[in-house]
Amino acid sequence: MNASSIFSSVTLRTPRLILREFAEGDAEAIQVYAGDPEVTRFTSFGPNTPEVTDSILANWIEEQKISPRAEWPLAIVRQEDEVLIGATGLGAVDWSTGAAIFGYVFRRSAWGQGYATEASRAVVDWAMNDLGLRKLVAHCEPANVASSSVLTKLGFWQEEPVTQPRLNGEMRLYLTFVKERR
Ligand SMILES: CC(C)(COP(=O)(O)OP(=O)(O)OC[C@H]1O[C@@H](n2cnc3c(N)ncnc32)[C@H](O)[C@@H]1OP(=O)(O)O)[C@@H](O)C(=O)NCCC(=O)NCCS
Repeated sequence: MNASSIFSSVTLRTPRLILREFAEGDAEAIQVYAGDPEVTRFTSFGPNTPEVTDSILANWIEEQKISPRAEWPLAIVRQEDEVLIGATGLGAVDWSTGAAIFGYVFRRSAWGQGYATEASRAVVDWAMNDLGLRKLVAHCEPANVASSSVLTKLGFWQEEPVTQPRLNGEMRLYLTFVKERR
């Protein structure tokens, strides 16, 4: 693993997007997706109240000081108008095994334009090539065809489905998508 990368903050650029650390002032833009029930239909969180979003953002900013990072959320900003349109990143990073959870979410108006594929390529490349992680796992509900399609395009394959709770305790069945560096 690349030790210097583990302890730093990161900014990734793609042709249309900038993926950067979350910052104070992002709450309103986060709430656009996190408070939208249509967006959070397939996510483990939400829909969130503005208060919950404020507290999650505060935690994310606090966690940026922890080294090495176990949670590494990134804001997705569209370059053309500098609007924060979603989030991606890594969670439950286990530096001893090199495994992490990978995920993404976008505001509804940004769907269907290839942004998830573009952002995910950059995160997977950074996680495996710069951070040196060996295994990324993404959980996706069977009905979430768009997300399954993104993961398949990125070279993830399916392993055994899991049943696990959303943050509100509701149990859900998820397909397990895995990408591993051998
Ligand atoms: C899932 C999500 C991230 C996809 O983002 P996106 O930017 O629209 O995705 P992309 O445009 O990069 O790719 C979506 C792919 O799914 C396909 N797709 C979308 N809806 C589909 C459907 N109903 N049936 C079949 N394919 C579908 C698109 O055609 C596209 O594939 P293509 O590039 O081969 O044409 C976005 O809809 C979202 O944020 N949803 C809510 C949160 C969420 O579900 N997060 C993931 C949890 S696992």
